[in-house]
Amino acid sequence: MDKSIVEHLHLWFSNYVSGYYSNDSDIDFHIKLKEAHTLRVCSNILSIGQDLGLNESELCLAEITALLHDIGRFEQYKKHRTFSDRKSQNHALLGVGILENEEVLVNMDMKERNILLDAIRFHNIFRIPIDIDSESLLFTKLIRDADKLDILDILVNYYESPEAYPNLSVGEASMNPGYSQQVLSDVLNGKLIDYNNVKTSDDMKLLRLSWIFDINFRYTFECIKNKGYWEKIIKSLPNTEDIRKVQKMILDYTGKKPHSGSIP
Ligand SMILES: [Fe+2]
Repeated sequence: MDKSIVEHLHLWFSNYVSGYYSNDSDIDFHIKLKEAHTLRVCSNILSIGQDLGLNESELCLAEITALLHDIGRFEQYKKHRTFSDRKSQNHALLGVGILENEEVLVNMDMKERNILLDAIRFHNIFRIPIDIDSESLLFTKLIRDADKLDILDILVNYYESPEAYPNLSVGEASMNPGYSQQVLSDVLNGKLIDYNNVKTSDDMKLLRLSWIFDINFRYTFECIKNKGYWEKIIKSLPNTEDIRKVQKMILDYTGKKPHSGSIP
């Protein structure tokens, strides 16, 4: 794998995405949002990969994984006007289908192609399958961390000043306030929250906080901590005894994490 394939795929990506630009301002806004997100995830994955000491070829594959991980989002939004997989279809599987149909990956060797498709397929799954091949596992973990870094950045900015993002469709805005006891107790017990259990906008914020249990690499963990994302999400939740317990749990958890490359 060399840089020329990455460059070729960047050109393919921008050409593919520009085909979804629209005179409809809502569609155009969301297509460009995901395009910009994708490019930031490319940069995030390279930072994580460099911190881990990956070689040039691995960094190229990591960048391609980031570039193509959300390729299904454009068709999803055009067709369903939502980024909610629950309300439409699984964007990861949609993306894998698009890459196969468009024969985008014909210049890649079979092994790398399989790793890439596994990482895309599993980037949004609740739990990574335990029987996943070890190389696919590395790239799946990389994309999950790189993606979360950018999603947290977007959401935290939104939580701080929702009025600044009037066009942003995030699940958080469209639900009732308040939090569910089950979701609260799951977070306090160190469990990752499943989207299917989310009933309110504050449940969704607690789900974002539960990502703390699903971060794979030290670099990502430190970056989230240094940017203060967890505290900012907590600040956007009601100031109750329950939420203060969550805050304490997060503080304890961030204080205890080991400083190794990969968090077990
Ligand atoms: Fe993404």
